[in-house]
Amino acid sequence: MTRVTDLPEWQALAEHALTARSVHLRELFAADAERFARFSREVNGLLFDFSRQRVQERTLELLLALAHARGLRARIDAMFSGERINQTEQRAALHIALRNRADRPILVDGQDVMPQVRASLEQMRDFVDGVHAGRIRGHTGKTFTDVVNIGIGGSDLGIVMATEALAHLRHRDLRLHCVSNIDGVQLADTLEQVDPARTLFVVCSKTFGTLETLTNARLARQWVVDHLGEEAPARHFAAVSTNAQAMDAFLIPPQNRFAMWDWVGGRYSVWSAVGLSVALALGMDRFEQMLEGGYDMDEHFRTAPFERNLPVLMGLLGVWNRNFLGLDSLAILPYDQRLHRFPAYLQQLEMESNGKRVTLDGQAVDWDTCGVIWGEPGSNAQHSFFQLLHQGTARVALDFLAPVNASNPYQSQQNLALANCFAQAQAFAFGQTEDQVRQDLAAKGLPPSEIERLVPHKVHPGNRPSSLLLFRRLDPKTLGRLIALYEHKVFTQSVIWGINAFDQWGVELGKKLADSLAPAVQNPAEAKDVDAGLKGLFEYVARWRT
Ligand code: F6P
Repeated sequence: MTRVTDLPEWQALAEHALTARSVHLRELFAADAERFARFSREVNGLLFDFSRQRVQERTLELLLALAHARGLRARIDAMFSGERINQTEQRAALHIALRNRADRPILVDGQDVMPQVRASLEQMRDFVDGVHAGRIRGHTGKTFTDVVNIGIGGSDLGIVMATEALAHLRHRDLRLHCVSNIDGVQLADTLEQVDPARTLFVVCSKTFGTLETLTNARLARQWVVDHLGEEAPARHFAAVSTNAQAMDAFLIPPQNRFAMWDWVGGRYSVWSAVGLSVALALGMDRFEQMLEGGYDMDEHFRTAPFERNLPVLMGLLGVWNRNFLGLDSLAILPYDQRLHRFPAYLQQLEMESNGKRVTLDGQAVDWDTCGVIWGEPGSNAQHSFFQLLHQGTARVALDFLAPVNASNPYQSQQNLALANCFAQAQAFAFGQTEDQVRQDLAAKGLPPSEIERLVPHKVHPGNRPSSLLLFRRLDPKTLGRLIALYEHKVFTQSVIWGINAFDQWGVELGKKLADSLAPAVQNPAEAKDVDAGLKGLFEYVARWRT
């Protein structure tokens, strides 16, 4: 495989960057009254405004040429046609099949996966409707008032993010709780709030072998047994997994089991039966609207020319910022509190997918891959870390997201959120020059000596690149489009960087070590053959354990 840095298209970008890097966004806007029209695209109700990215027409041309040279079109086709593009695990990556709303078959090894996908959706609908209608009840015959999703990573983050994002559409009589962490805090807090006779647990785990999930699930099961008896869990537990044997061992009855397939990556799985808790919280119709939104974006990604293709453009702009402007992190800034877990969701999606240091054929990369993804909703973020973004030495690329219409009764407040969002995008782009600061302070009547003392502190250099995703309102379809947009952006970047976006070996080592250390933490006397660092820690554990 050609190393991306050896491609003439990459080298042309590197050369272009030598001059482009010193051009300020102020100059780019001053030179082009059409800049917004030139550098924004509207697709499926999403406006992608990248006019505040530090790009010129030439930059875009070169980035698009790089995408073609890297064979992006063929890679997209390979993904959609079910090829085993996850080469290290020899698996297809077919989250797109989960939201395929057309009749088009999707083949893995010559077999159409769509009948299984449709059957799973039907099973979900029956189950969700049954719980909502009170046909499916607990062991004592009472209807369910609470659902507890037990899962972690991809078996948790999408569920939390989507149900928070669409909290205004939640079913009124069914509360959702999510338990993921190993430390027992969430589980204990949740069990305190719920009635065992009216609580349904959904154990979500692709592998059904994840320590956190199994530990929490076993404890929850015991809690149900303690309150309702040995027979009760059969009516209080459902599970989603690829691992039928482990579901057997957990005594999950057949009607409460939901399948997953190895061609769905954990972080891409909210579209599968992993979304059962989403559907329980919002209703199956809304869950399917989310799938429709995802499908819209899939069709766009699959068919639109690259110059109008949102995920491709977004991915390429990320490459430009990361590899040619040297920005090593991306802040996700939704101006809608409902999206407060969107940055966390994207952390797994982007960093677990593209946090890689070798190419598909196992060669070490000598170019940067995924940077650090982080973020918080505006306007809260403005009052915490924006200072650093405006005037600090770290350089960060920014994604703003905002709905025009509120999902709450206070539209005037969403208008203020939007005003803040636009204002920040402007401030990051244009900053505030020394002259502007001087004029400002002089207008306030400050003496010249005081003005000069303050000028350096008040200058905002600007030229901080950002994109803005603007949409009408946060509804299930829009959320589906947004998630799929970022998924395909990640895929686009993986193709440019020549890495596998669909494995995650980097999380295994820590898990293995934790397993081996667990007995010694339970009983520090068992800590034998450990190095000085661990020995010291175990001594403290022993001394401080009450
Ligand atoms: O530790 C990382 C990971 O493997 C993620 O990729 C995955 O989403 C998560 O753990 C949970 O895995 P599972 O769904 O198999 O419990």
